[in-house]
Amino acid sequence: MRFDVLTLFPEMFGGYVGQSLLKLAIESGLVEVHLHDIRDWATNRHKKVDDRPFGGGPGMVLMVDPVVRAVEAVRPMHPDAGHLVMLTPQGRRLSQAIVEELAGHPRILLLCGRYEGFDERIRLILKPDEVSIGDYVLNGGEVAAMAVIETAIRLVPGVLGDEDSSANDSFSGDRRWLEGAQYTRPREYRGYEVPTILLNGNHEEIARWREENSRRRTLERRKDLLEDS
Ligand code: 6GU
Repeated sequence: MRFDVLTLFPEMFGGYVGQSLLKLAIESGLVEVHLHDIRDWATNRHKKVDDRPFGGGPGMVLMVDPVVRAVEAVRPMHPDAGHLVMLTPQGRRLSQAIVEELAGHPRILLLCGRYEGFDERIRLILKPDEVSIGDYVLNGGEVAAMAVIETAIRLVPGVLGDEDSSANDSFSGDRRWLEGAQYTRPREYRGYEVPTILLNGNHEEIARWREENSRRRTLERRKDLLEDS
């Protein structure tokens, strides 16, 4: 799976791209992350990519020309034109189901904005898939783009080891409940004991216990998920 990130702050991705799971996925050739600085497509003398909003008001707006030309230049860098995602709080809210859909694309272009927003004509011309990561406001799309990469690569076959497959994750599988409680050694800590059923080696009993634990947890914490399933 290939990601092309278009951003005014490519340096924000350096530490992230170099970290463990993503680093391994890149080294094993399963994932590619290519960073592109939108400012490289600014034509004016001062490399200006934002301007004051027509009609007045606070903040700056990302200009249409550098962004449209950046996308048009990055698209042909690979034979698959890719799926263009614009990170914006006005997009459809990211969920595990949407992550599954996005992970089905072999190439995704992630367009990150800063400032108060994108010139509306960027949307009209590029017709991106607009995605938000939740109902709160970030200073820009970069952290949201990292969330898309982070969630999508978990679904790329081979990125996770077999042992930590994503099938039992919260919000996953056909029910999309929360995952239940997990324990590791020691068996007892400060008087808190591991449920004995997890120690008895009966895999059917353990699976039933986990399902019930997951259902109860989802009911207590996220009743909306039970109602959805
Ligand atoms: Cl994708 N961008 C910004 N700026 N804020 C957000 C967001 C995205 N998702 C939630 N808040």
